[in-house]
Amino acid sequence: MAVIPVDIAGRPYEVRVAPGLLADLAGQCGALLRKARVPIVTDVNVHAAWGATVEQSLVAAGFEPRWKVLPAGEATKSWAQLADVVDWLLAEEVERKDHVIALGGGVIGDLTGFAAAVLKRGCNFIQLPTTLLAQVDSSVGGKTAINTAAGKNLAGAFHQPSLVLADPLTLDTLPPREVAAGYAEVVKYGLLGDAAFFAWCETNGAALMSGDPAAREYAVATSVAAKAAIVAQDEFETTGQRALLNLGHTFGHALEAQTGFSDRLLHGEAIALGMVLAARYSARRGLIPAHDALRVGAHFAALGMMSELADLGLNVDGQTLVAHMLHDKKMDAGTLSFVLMRSIGDAFLARDVALADVASFLDEQLK
Ligand code: NAD
Ligand code: GLY
Repeated sequence: MAVIPVDIAGRPYEVRVAPGLLADLAGQCGALLRKARVPIVTDVNVHAAWGATVEQSLVAAGFEPRWKVLPAGEATKSWAQLADVVDWLLAEEVERKDHVIALGGGVIGDLTGFAAAVLKRGCNFIQLPTTLLAQVDSSVGGKTAINTAAGKNLAGAFHQPSLVLADPLTLDTLPPREVAAGYAEVVKYGLLGDAAFFAWCETNGAALMSGDPAAREYAVATSVAAKAAIVAQDEFETTGQRALLNLGHTFGHALEAQTGFSDRLLHGEAIALGMVLAARYSARRGLIPAHDALRVGAHFAALGMMSELADLGLNVDGQTLVAHMLHDKKMDAGTLSFVLMRSIGDAFLARDVALADVASFLDEQLK
């Protein structure tokens, strides 16, 4: 088992990565559970695939699981579902020192974490991430949120979990398209800070996608370690370190906005394209060697993932995509920073990017 400490000042916790953690749930977190009743928030798909495993582990150890099963999908990150979950936790008489369990992907983790952040001004929670994206990114670091009518993740809180248990076996039931979307965030850690890990991805990405357990476990553990190191340095995204995790996100956000945050383009698919664009834009500015930029797109293409903006078939110009970027929550006092690359494994925050230049670059990429 890989055990990765997240050394947040005053509230450190562990991320454990190993196959079989869900089946051993009571053994892994029983000491944190103060009462027989254990509140668990999940969605219908995850409940169907993994609810029985969790139920059996807890019941065998004498606990009484209490389930809140929500609809699957991004629309669940809403004010209405947040209110419903908070009211349910109150009805379950959850107290501040109790732990709420989030079993699911980023949607369930973000919503449950936010509910835990506001319940009685903050109760404890445990993340059991069941998508690749959630295991390598959203379950770690304490960002919680829901969407509002004005956009994605616009209401939320920093609220760290007490424990994260990432069981790679859960990925066996995940649709391949969701595995690929989560894989983009794996590659991100190589591109932003670890050239050797990107090279590992080039060699082992296909095995990971097709279900190789060792490749999955290694990728999750390595990604979590990279994220934990960044979060420990910059929990609240104030010094710029944590902002590096947004590699590909400014371009990606524009593509998600243009496609209506719909199933036409999953978040991770947008991030993969966004990283290709960030690398190519870095090359255009003479920051990164052209052959390094080519490697990024070539890797996603080799795995059958979209790697050309033109393939998305958008009927739009670069200026329109830049306009979406200006509504990004990453805007700061009227300026927009971009995460660019000096080489594979060396990303940095650029605050001097001319948006007209980005628009003309995107016009070229859209052809
Ligand atoms: P998701 O939670 O919607 O899960 C994707 C789909 O897979 C859903 O239909 C779900 O029901 C299903 N599913 C989940 N686990 C399964 C399993 N093991 N077997 C079968 N089906 C399963 O999506 P996601 O990609 O995990 O998360 C996306 C969300 O994460 C977005 O809302 C995004 O904003 C958020 N996010 C948050 C952070 C953060 O730091 N908090 C970081 C990145 C993304
Ligand atoms: N997913 C970006 C972050 O956690 O900061």
